Amino acid sequence: MHLAALTLRDYRNYRILELEFPRGVIVLTGENGAGKSNLLEAIHYLSYLKSFRTSRDKEIVRFGAPYAVIDARFSDEQSHDFEVRLVLKDGKRFVRFNGDDVQKFQDYIGKLHSQFFFPGDLGIVTGDPALRREVLDLELLRLKPQLTKVMNHFRRAREQRNKLLKMIHPQPGVTRDNRELQQSFTAFSEQMVQSGAQLVRERLGITRVLDGLFRPLHRQLASEAGEQVTLDYFSQVTLDPPEGIAASYGEVLAAAAASESSLRYTSVGPHRDDMLFRLGDGRDLKRFGSQGQMRSAALAFRLALCELSRQRMKDDPILMLDDALSEMDDGRKGRLMELAGRYSQVFITSASAREVGQIKRAAGQVYRVANGRVEPY
Ligand SMILES: Nc1ncnc2c1ncn2[C@@H]1O[C@H](COP(=O)(O)OP(=O)(O)O)[C@@H](O)[C@H]1O
Ligand SMILES: [Mg+2]
Repeated sequence: MHLAALTLRDYRNYRILELEFPRGVIVLTGENGAGKSNLLEAIHYLSYLKSFRTSRDKEIVRFGAPYAVIDARFSDEQSHDFEVRLVLKDGKRFVRFNGDDVQKFQDYIGKLHSQFFFPGDLGIVTGDPALRREVLDLELLRLKPQLTKVMNHFRRAREQRNKLLKMIHPQPGVTRDNRELQQSFTAFSEQMVQSGAQLVRERLGITRVLDGLFRPLHRQLASEAGEQVTLDYFSQVTLDPPEGIAASYGEVLAAAAASESSLRYTSVGPHRDDMLFRLGDGRDLKRFGSQGQMRSAALAFRLALCELSRQRMKDDPILMLDDALSEMDDGRKGRLMELAGRYSQVFITSASAREVGQIKRAAGQVYRVANGRVEPY
């Protein structure tokens, strides 16, 4: 997949921008604050319907303007064209795909693929487990939109179960003797276990696939560093064999009954699981790894997600590397460029003339970004 044409109106510091892009490696250069990341943010927004920078859509509209518009034309490997229009107005967003209004996120997610990496993107390794769960769930939804149902089912059952826990235990450790409440509690627990087990199985499956893609990429990127890193799904529920997950979830819940009577919320399940980056000897990378190791792992993980799109969706994602080269030595830069060059379109930003000099041979096109304008260099 590649972005063939992009128009921005009142998006961040762009009053109006109209550009066509070739395939291959595209380098955007310009001083800090010129608008390089803003441009990538717009592309990323189109595939995820959210910014990697802000959760407040209002910030995206150019200061003083009433709304922002992104118009884009994408083309896939079979030369199918996709037109997307996105309008951000008063904190709301309106999306059209090939001329039709998009009502539901699940009808849209999975249509356009991109992956984004910037040097601060260590959060995937060091951040809250919720972040990693979100990434896994999002990738699952892209591959299998029908999982929306399972995820919603799990969430609703857990909410009901939590409500009932609070009714049955009006105060921590206090239990009301009420048969009806108990029956509903058992019913929602069972629903939660079934949908939760399915979700865990799916997450486990995608983690294993990603691990297989991640390892060689990581080895290639971090070649001098030597240390091996692997991806591992972590749960309090026993994961092996996968057919036993529901039974194990039921048992762990039963064992947690006493503590849940004082906690009054559901303390085990997919909503508490994590995906770990483990060092060779099993230690957790985020606790024992060096900055350099974490950076390589974060980047290799993004590239593994690209490979996953490519294999499963039979289409290359658009890869965006925002200032990603700046903290790398020349060897790693070279290896990253080699890996990135496999995709049909890659956007790379850099504020450094030296760096642009190093990579421009591999680039199809270099653009200069200044004051909300983008011009071929
Ligand atoms: N809503 C907005 N309206 C106008 N300008 C904005 C808006 N949001 C950010 N900017 C401007 O965009 C610039 C940052 O652009 P950015 O793409 O991050 O630069 P860089 O080229 O360094 O990646 C800043 O000058 C900032 O003031
Ligand atoms: Mg930037």
